[in-house]
Amino acid sequence: MALLSWSNQYLIGNDLIDAEHEELFRLINAFHDHWLDKRDPQDIARILNQLVVYAQMHFRHEEVIMHDAGYPTLEQHQQIHEAMIDTIFRLRQSFEDRNIHLEMDTMKFVKAWLVEHILRNDYLFRDFLLRNKKPDTTVGP
Ligand SMILES: [Fe+2]
Repeated sequence: MALLSWSNQYLIGNDLIDAEHEELFRLINAFHDHWLDKRDPQDIARILNQLVVYAQMHFRHEEVIMHDAGYPTLEQHQQIHEAMIDTIFRLRQSFEDRNIHLEMDTMKFVKAWLVEHILRNDYLFRDFLLRNKKPDTTVGP
């Protein structure tokens, strides 16, 4: 069974952010599946690396979107992203150095790493987008 299942509750309301979050779900599920299937550590390291690279790219995209939207707490959000990158870098390093043995707790940790961020922090941006939504200005006849 997949570790994470994507649903509408995770939608932020920006198409690119939402599509990239869904891809992050897919990558975390792939990481989990590789581990469950007892795949070669090199395969697991490869998927973990893909997750790290994709997350970095996604955070940059998200920050540009937030910047363009005039999001007032962008700086705090950027700091949270930096801390998240740090966390996942350390996990990747420990795995590559064979200092950690992957366990279900590691999977749950990675899951929470993303899901809690979306529900706690990205949701604040969702609220901001909702508050600042331009009214429908379609002009009638
Ligand atoms: Fe974020």
